[in-house]
Amino acid sequence: MRLLITGAGGQLGRTLQRQAAPHFEVTATTREQLDIGDAEAVQAVFRATRPALVINAAAYTAVDRAESEPELAQRVNADGAAHMAREAARTGARLLHVSTDFVFDGQACAPYPPDASTRPLGVYGRSKRDGEQAVMQHAPEQATILRTAWVYGPGGHNFVRTMLRLLAEKPALSVVSDQIGTPTHTEGLAAALLALGGIDASRGCILHWTDSGVASWYDLAMATRTLAARRWPKRPLAEITPIPTRDWPTPAHRPPYSVLDTAATRELVGTPPHWQVRLERALLHDAAEEWLPEAAIG
Ligand SMILES: NC(=O)c1ccc[n+]([C@@H]2O[C@H](COP(=O)([O-])OP(=O)(O)OC[C@H]3O[C@@H](n4cnc5c(N)ncnc54)[C@H](OP(=O)(O)O)[C@@H]3O)[C@@H](O)[C@H]2O)c1
Repeated sequence: MRLLITGAGGQLGRTLQRQAAPHFEVTATTREQLDIGDAEAVQAVFRATRPALVINAAAYTAVDRAESEPELAQRVNADGAAHMAREAARTGARLLHVSTDFVFDGQACAPYPPDASTRPLGVYGRSKRDGEQAVMQHAPEQATILRTAWVYGPGGHNFVRTMLRLLAEKPALSVVSDQIGTPTHTEGLAAALLALGGIDASRGCILHWTDSGVASWYDLAMATRTLAARRWPKRPLAEITPIPTRDWPTPAHRPPYSVLDTAATRELVGTPPHWQVRLERALLHDAAEEWLPEAAIG
């Protein structure tokens, strides 16, 4: 089966390529190879590759920068999603589109089901919400939207890698402890997407996927520190202090609680490991050089 993966240079895109390679005829496009904000370029790639399955892992993901670049965020996350959906509908290709917990305002106190009302707090979340609406408008028969959260994987720009670097560089760190979500490794997310591509019951659905459990950013930082101490016992590591969001102001507001209810997706593709189990596997068993700059490995 011919599979097109966009955003192939990103952390999810890279994991998807590796997992799909043995099973699909894969075309994987980086931003340089396909700008999804360019409708004609999207059309040309569909024409050239004639995919049966498409996974849109391309996105503008710089949450804070988006506040000062709203047009760019909208062009990629909303217009780009619309272009992909139009082409999927025109060619009959199955489309898996990835979205985010940032479509919610974080005021809930129980996990968000997929049909909960969206109310994004910032530019990034609004652009992703608009992308979801465009996908369901243009390709209701072909598309599945999979929302996820707190994504990390080896080689990507993500919180875990940033923590590993800062733990080695700084004597002390402060990390926000009043934002709650679920850390999600790209490995399980990519596997869920590829599985959903073969499940017709997910057509036209919005679904949620994260690893299991809940955490604050402080919890994730501490778990990362504990595992780093086990893997690199001789390296001095920064102490970590929990702080409230008000002491760490950022250009974009973030949802304080964005745990996603993943029950419907688990029914279809199985239950993911707890985030702590997944993180331990990643930091203790994945190749060290995928997590750390060479200079920091000691
Ligand atoms: N990261 C998270 O914590 C998180 C949480 C929830 C949901 N998600 C969603 O998960 C999906 C995958 O995210 P990720 O973590 O893999 O993000 P990522 O590492 O930032 O990857 C996104 C990729 O899309 C590319 N891209 C940007 N603009 C593009 C354009 N106009 N055309 C084509 N490609 C473009 C980026 O290229 P450049 O790097 O060259 O710009 C990057 O390679 C996204 O839909 C994201 O919204 C992510």
